[in-house]
Amino acid sequence: MRVTTRDIQEMKARGEKIPVLTAYDYPSAKLLDEAGVPIILVGDSLAQVVLGYDSTLPVTMEEMLHHVRAVVRGAKRALVVADMPFMSYQVDASQALVNAGRFLQEGSAQAVKLEGGRRVAETVRRITQAGIPVMGHAGMTPQSVHQLGGYHVQGRDAKAAANLLADALALEEAGAFCVVLELVPAPLAKLLTQRLRVPTIGIGAGPDCDGQVQVYYDLLGLFTDFVPKHAKRYAAVAETIRAAVAAYVAEVQSGAFPTEKQSFTMDESALTGLLRPSPEGLRPHKREE
Ligand code: KIV
Repeated sequence: MRVTTRDIQEMKARGEKIPVLTAYDYPSAKLLDEAGVPIILVGDSLAQVVLGYDSTLPVTMEEMLHHVRAVVRGAKRALVVADMPFMSYQVDASQALVNAGRFLQEGSAQAVKLEGGRRVAETVRRITQAGIPVMGHAGMTPQSVHQLGGYHVQGRDAKAAANLLADALALEEAGAFCVVLELVPAPLAKLLTQRLRVPTIGIGAGPDCDGQVQVYYDLLGLFTDFVPKHAKRYAAVAETIRAAVAAYVAEVQSGAFPTEKQSFTMDESALTGLLRPSPEGLRPHKREE
């Protein structure tokens, strides 16, 4: 049985922490699913960690849909949340609803995520009223990086903290089933977690959120351009890949790979007719002058 938004809310009620990870492809989704991760987010972080852009802004609806479908094929149990890319929900609530619907109809995701607080509350309401679950996202919202002047911690002074509380409450009131808090000081994230009925999912928001979300490639040590302060590496997959590729290159060059084990046999008498008596026979036919 697939995890539902209700299951996620019951986890908060039971005081059970909610581990969330991003994934962008079929084999990764399958592994996360087998490990029991209850929510897989197909994040627009895809733009940076998979597609190599320097922000999340360039990724498109079509690219997101392509990866959402792959993740859904791999995840049989986890709730799959599709991240709405930049400019897929900002123009108006109708455009947002159409695009959110595409993620469920064409991508088979079970929910969508969009960034912003009070400014997107009406859009969140419109989408949830259509029966599409929404994961909110407040605090540092990477799609607004140019307006925010960089990837900075949000809500550090009294006014900013009050604004963040108002944003999170507006998302809950508009029907979001949970709210991601990104780059929020731990004491403020704790207060928000106590004030909200729906779960908070932190990333760089301290240990008191109801759940945590991390970018899968950061956790694996597969994205090597930089390590965000909020991330913890649980593996060094980039080093494993480097070592494996170097061993392969060396074995191909030395002739150690492939061996008989990776090769296929045939009855070689079938080649008799193709054999020529001398190497001359193998040369292209030369026209007589
Ligand atoms: O795109 C993403 O991966 C995200 C998470 C980091 C919350 O939005």
